[in-house]
Amino acid sequence: MTTEITWYGHAAIGIKTGRFSILVDPFFTGNPQASSKHEDVCADYLLVSHGHGDHVGDTVAIAKRTGATVISNAEICGWLSRQGVKTHGQHLGGGYHHPFGYLKMTFALHGSALPDGSNGGNPGGFLLTTPENQKIYCAGDTGLFGDMRLIGEEGLDLAILPIGDNYTMGPDDALRAVKLLSPKAIIPIHYNTFPVIKQDVQDWAQRVTSETGISVHLLKPGDLLTI
Ligand code: NI
Ligand code: MN
Repeated sequence: MTTEITWYGHAAIGIKTGRFSILVDPFFTGNPQASSKHEDVCADYLLVSHGHGDHVGDTVAIAKRTGATVISNAEICGWLSRQGVKTHGQHLGGGYHHPFGYLKMTFALHGSALPDGSNGGNPGGFLLTTPENQKIYCAGDTGLFGDMRLIGEEGLDLAILPIGDNYTMGPDDALRAVKLLSPKAIIPIHYNTFPVIKQDVQDWAQRVTSETGISVHLLKPGDLLTI
């Protein structure tokens, strides 16, 4: 069975595995790159990497409309459940066998305050192992950290990495991240949404492929990749 990955722009990613639709960091309203409206996406599970508005996005509206369960850290899950959303709290380094696969929360070097200033705990990323044993790493917003090597040791089929700089890794550090993670394929995200994170992604993809031989999938918002 294959897994379908859709990039909706910025850090919003759809993962379809088996009969489950998973949405990561569902930021549609106010996202200048968004290829869909939050009213039009379907989800069984929502994954929120950290508390910032460009990641929490339309989580509450989508979760209430679809009945999806939100998976995030315990602090963000507490904040969401007080708004009537179904949640499953995890924490950094902890994994759980969900119906769609085994999901582990990973470390991220970033902040996590929620849009209203509430404590959003620590920022994270996600490592999904599908029932067919495909491994997909969504780094979340993060700077480069050496323990990406440990994540890479799991054997990644796909790494979804921020490259925009300013708030996260930029192109140079994202290239170093690729070398630590050694995934089979890469999708760069979190660039060109706003002027401060404008990057030449074509140039980055060429550097990655010439230095590592790893294929970079340059998606346009709305594009789908099958792995
Ligand atoms: Ni952020
Ligand atoms: Mn962000």
